[in-house]
Amino acid sequence: MSKIFVDACFGKETPYTPVWMMRQAGRYLPEYMKVRAEAGNFLNLCHNPKLACEVTLQPVDIVGVDAAILFSDILVIPDEMGMDLEFVAGEGPKFNDPIKDEADLDRLIGGEEAASKLTYVYDTIKLIKEQLAEDKALIGFTGAPWTLATYMIEGEGTKTYNICKKMMYSNPALLHKILAKVTEVVKFYMEKQIEAGIDVVQIFDSWAAAIEPSKYDEFSWKYMVEIADYLKSKYPHIPIIMFPKGVPAFLDKVYGNFDVFGVDWSTPMAFAKEKLGEKYVLQGNMEPCRLYSQEETTKCVEALQGIMQGKRHIFNLGHGILPDVPVENAKHFINECHRVSKKS
Ligand code: CP3
Repeated sequence: MSKIFVDACFGKETPYTPVWMMRQAGRYLPEYMKVRAEAGNFLNLCHNPKLACEVTLQPVDIVGVDAAILFSDILVIPDEMGMDLEFVAGEGPKFNDPIKDEADLDRLIGGEEAASKLTYVYDTIKLIKEQLAEDKALIGFTGAPWTLATYMIEGEGTKTYNICKKMMYSNPALLHKILAKVTEVVKFYMEKQIEAGIDVVQIFDSWAAAIEPSKYDEFSWKYMVEIADYLKSKYPHIPIIMFPKGVPAFLDKVYGNFDVFGVDWSTPMAFAKEKLGEKYVLQGNMEPCRLYSQEETTKCVEALQGIMQGKRHIFNLGHGILPDVPVENAKHFINECHRVSKKS
């Protein structure tokens, strides 16, 4: 059975425009909070294939999205490379041993050996595939090497990125060495996710906007393209979505062998269509806070449909859904995307 989401990623005509939401499995769902409480904490949930499978499927059943996204986190990669990851309640992720120098990097496990340690992710994928309806797609994901490196170097989320930017400008060779090592692990990690059964790959470069436009290719995009090239050479039937958040100035320079460009909410969709719409399918891009108002949601969905006309488009938010969004409003968004794009 063909999956409408996979068809849309390849730019094929579909009966309606499919939709999913970044961070769709999460705290806005009471059912998620219940399973997380059962797991004890967030990392335990990531490590438990049965429970991770359950929360992956929740938004498909409850909200009606066209694709599930694997429940995990981008930071399990550096965790399995040997860094000490902790999720501090209310504060977000923290590595207690950030990379300061080459010796710190050399201590980390690389390549296939690190990717082989993420067995709980592959087990989760296999379980999801047994239970996910045949017409729905499963999205696997990774963080971009740059976004992962920001946490590995800073040790936590940052507003200024001063530690990794100091490295970028005063010791770029070390930053490239970190990015290259992470890229190698990610290639094997995504390959193993594909072998376990995912239908689509998304690469999240959530902190792309931290890099000045003239340096973005050198420190992030080219590594993402290297991962895409590697996967495409082996698995051309698996679509790849690139999501670099907040880089409108880079749109003229986007290149590479991938299928879908994820447009974040700060980039006007019409602008993205003009720059990239012929070469790539576009995903996005409602400002996630519009979900607080059903009226504003409808207006935005209609405007996006007006621009994209149901062609070479996947509906999504322009970044992740926030924890205090009413579930009814999330459902309204999905229903509206289907309503406005349905071909009779
Ligand atoms: O539904 C989905 O999208 C799948 C699950 C998913 C999570 N994290 C679960 C999660 C995905 C795709 C991610 C990716 C991720 N993780 C990114 C890139 C995507 C993005 O939003 O830009 C980043 C930067 C991270 C790192 C991370 N993980 C942060 C900064 C935080 C804390 C911030 C927050 O929202 O609390 C997390 C924790 C996290 N990852 C939660 C979830 C559901 C919340 C944990 C909880 O249950 O308390």
